[in-house]
Amino acid sequence: MRFQKFSEFVILVQLLIYALVQGQQGETCASKIEKLWPRQQLDMERFTGQWMVIQLARMNDSLVEDSFAKCVSQTISRQPDSDNLNIRIELTLIADGTQIARFGQVNTTSDQPAIWKWSYFDNLAQFWEGVVIATDYEKYWIHYECEEVDGFRIESVVLRYRERTVGPGQLAIYASLMEGLGFPVGNLVDIPQPADCA
Ligand SMILES: *[C@@H]1O[C@H](CO)[C@@H](O)[C@H](O)[C@H]1NC(C)=O
Ligand SMILES: *[C@@H]1O[C@H](CO)[C@@H](O)[C@H](O)[C@H]1NC(C)=O
Repeated sequence: MRFQKFSEFVILVQLLIYALVQGQQGETCASKIEKLWPRQQLDMERFTGQWMVIQLARMNDSLVEDSFAKCVSQTISRQPDSDNLNIRIELTLIADGTQIARFGQVNTTSDQPAIWKWSYFDNLAQFWEGVVIATDYEKYWIHYECEEVDGFRIESVVLRYRERTVGPGQLAIYASLMEGLGFPVGNLVDIPQPADCA
């Protein structure tokens, strides 16, 4: 059953590679997302709840940096009478142990629920566009994220998981999915999720 799910996604990823090698001139976050959107509906009820951020990769090699935060998690909940979601991020700065919680909103639409635009209320000037690439709701979620800054696109892929630890076999499968999106595996940075995370 689980294997079958993965083979579907592998086919999907091969299609995505084809989309990615097509011309990139004049690409925007929105046009990239339109290409990557897996054309699947999202079961929002099953998707809500807490997700730990396990790994992150930048597309651009020169934007890869060591993680400055640990115990990063995001909690997704639905807004009553709306397609939009509430998002809460919690993290601990590695440098001095400061714990931070931020609250924000994810805008989606009922016909494209996997396509997201979101920001945190403490800094509305910064926002991200992205798309849920793959999820099984129970374990993993792979998200493509894109931010436009001064005419540049900062593209990331993020692996989230329902638990703080992921087995090496699963990690290898997720890495190949992320590589299929065009992110070099060498750009993957682990987000520490030690057992003593709150
Ligand atoms: C990668 O990031 C660097 C540093 O910000 C920038 O100079 C360069 O143009 C970027 N490359 C691409 C392809 O966006
Ligand atoms: C989400 O929608 C609200 C209300 O329409 C809007 O004010 C906000 O700018 C949107 N956020 C993003 C990141 O697009």
